[in-house]
Amino acid sequence: MEEIVSLCKRRGFIFQSNEIYGGMQGLYDYGPLGVELKNNLKSSWWKSIVYNRDDVEGLDTSIITHPNVLKYSGHKDTFTDPLVDCKSCGLRFREDQIPEECIGEELTEPRDFNLMFETNVGPVIDDSSVAYLRPETAQQIYINFKNVIDSTSRSLPFGIAQIGKSFRNEITPRNFIFRVREFEQMELEFFVLPGEDEEWHKKWIQYRLEWWNEQGIPSNKLNLLTVTGDDLAHYSKSTVDIMYQFPHGEEELEGIANRTDFDLGSHTKNQKELNIQARCKDNTESNTRLAIQDIDNNWIVPYVIEPSAGVDRGVLAVINEAYTIEELGDNKKRTVLKLKKHLAPIKTAVIPLKRNNEELVKIAHSLKSSLQKFQIGRVVVENTGNIGKSYRKHDEIGTPLCITIDFDTIEKNTVTIRDRDTMEQKIVSLDDVKAYFMNYFSDAG
Ligand code: GAP
Repeated sequence: MEEIVSLCKRRGFIFQSNEIYGGMQGLYDYGPLGVELKNNLKSSWWKSIVYNRDDVEGLDTSIITHPNVLKYSGHKDTFTDPLVDCKSCGLRFREDQIPEECIGEELTEPRDFNLMFETNVGPVIDDSSVAYLRPETAQQIYINFKNVIDSTSRSLPFGIAQIGKSFRNEITPRNFIFRVREFEQMELEFFVLPGEDEEWHKKWIQYRLEWWNEQGIPSNKLNLLTVTGDDLAHYSKSTVDIMYQFPHGEEELEGIANRTDFDLGSHTKNQKELNIQARCKDNTESNTRLAIQDIDNNWIVPYVIEPSAGVDRGVLAVINEAYTIEELGDNKKRTVLKLKKHLAPIKTAVIPLKRNNEELVKIAHSLKSSLQKFQIGRVVVENTGNIGKSYRKHDEIGTPLCITIDFDTIEKNTVTIRDRDTMEQKIVSLDDVKAYFMNYFSDAG
């Protein structure tokens, strides 16, 4: 983990947030390369969930959330972790995460600590203006259920997807970006006919495993864990977590829950008329029926299958998998980030052989802008004049291709294309570079 944290800071993937004022625990900023990698991961999820399917719509909802949403969802009463204090040093931590220095010391009885961040909306700060930063993106999807079906005429089964920030005042944030207080989720709420829920649950577990494989996480690093007992959330009939071997140990990367009709049932009006199966709080405040009519005009409250993945945990997992130290012989090593092409923050570096050589730099910029037009991702000109150093840097940040512009480019109209993983170098005509580039990046591998 230390090597990854160091690479992330040195090369501009991830920084401690608010660092110049001492930093704040559980908060991180994504740097120039981190933002590209994170956007690429989110875009890959969006493509697989929304664009490549015909049964999912997207959504982007507000973060500040009405207190009633979290009252009826159960978060106000139950979204808590057990907090204990060490009577010897006064440290506070989660009951199941006792720091080494407090093991064996006398601890207080655990008490419930609600993880939601509270705020006030508007100029009056009192109980009537209380609102919350959402602890998951899911709730806003449920409360928009009618808006989406009315505007898209969807019928079951269909899903609504959202990517966005969530906030949890974790008692002990730790392990770099694994457990943080502000993070992003990629969540799909997939609405199905009651009775078809178990079959869809299985399908979604399979789809999601395949997607993680495509991001470079091999199957042998992933495990499925069926959540049981007290660990099962109040809304869930069954949850299967996709577990990944993070550098600090095996932990949850994504949860896939069968949330039954709990959520729509909790937020709907006219609950009594709707034959809701889950045990929901009586709702006297919703003004909308969150149900759908079948072909016989009967109202149905759909069951929900929810694959919910953490973006930050995903970024940590793909960096961890890609991070490779290669022995090159003669006591030489190279660090290379073998990211999948579609995730690489920089797709190609164009490197003029000689720094500030007007002719070479001009060709490099012209090639960069023609490659950039394909919108595959970021292409840069690396005007350092040091090819070896540029290769080392771009290996370390995962750039799949480096294209060198040298004097042969002027004389023979050729460039050298170097492959990150094989280090193989090919001489290619400048006229063929665009086709080479498109061809290389069109292959999903
Ligand atoms: N809507 C369901 C839900 O939020 P969850 O298991 O609490 O379920 C889903 O969260 C995913 O969000 C987790 O699998 C994890 O990847 C990510 N996540 C949850 N809490 C996190 C935290 N404090 N820091 C980073 N990621 C977190």
